[in-house]
Amino acid sequence: MRVFDFTNAIMRAPAPSVVHGLRNDSSPDPDFEKLRAEHRAYVSALRDAGLSVDELPPLDAFPDSIFVEDPTFIVPQGAILLRPGAPSRLSEREHMRDALKRHFGQVHELVDGENADGGDVLITPKTIFIGLSKRTNRAGAEALQAALHSLGRNTRIVQTPSTVLHLKTASSLLDEETILVTRAMAQSKVFDGFRLIVTPDGEEAAANALRINGTILLGDRFPRTAELIRGRRLSVQTMPVTEVAKLDAGLSCMSLRW
Ligand code: GLY
Repeated sequence: MRVFDFTNAIMRAPAPSVVHGLRNDSSPDPDFEKLRAEHRAYVSALRDAGLSVDELPPLDAFPDSIFVEDPTFIVPQGAILLRPGAPSRLSEREHMRDALKRHFGQVHELVDGENADGGDVLITPKTIFIGLSKRTNRAGAEALQAALHSLGRNTRIVQTPSTVLHLKTASSLLDEETILVTRAMAQSKVFDGFRLIVTPDGEEAAANALRINGTILLGDRFPRTAELIRGRRLSVQTMPVTEVAKLDAGLSCMSLRW
């Protein structure tokens, strides 16, 4: 099954409040104008790749709401309204429901007590990996698993490394059998059976790459990772994500794709 051929995406424009987005450490606030430029570059990359982008309006009450992949999860067969594990993000889901219903006949919903962030879910051709983390609890992972099974998809619940926010902070699918991972993720054995490309020391944040059709989108601060991927004869397009990274975020969480 091809899992990176996309024709559509949903994104949300950043509001000025984005500079107050969640982060795990004492990273300085991002610069709003620079972050907005990074977001625009990302929208352009998706449009240049041929995707039709449904860009939702900014939500100032929700600083992290540009990361649309956390309150929602999409496979071509249907959409799932998740329940983000961070309390300040929980109600973002209410602002995604209409957009999902606009595009999908089937929208499953997680219920109270079931927490899951889309950032903890990695799609591969045969299996969708769901990572348990500070944001995704067992009840949420199992509810998401049941929803995906009803949509005909195989899943496996795994552990997100404790050093990262989300499973996809540390992993991304490059082709049908190759995953880009951090060293900690490789050592966890979660992706045994796949060919793994390990991010070079100092470039761990590169692991949140994003394949769109034939091209891998990658942060522009990771030249050695770009070289490794190009060595697999894959096309790489680098883009700025410096400001977004200050919010523990990266390329995958800024869009929903199908
Ligand atoms: N700032 C992204 C998140 O913590 O959810």
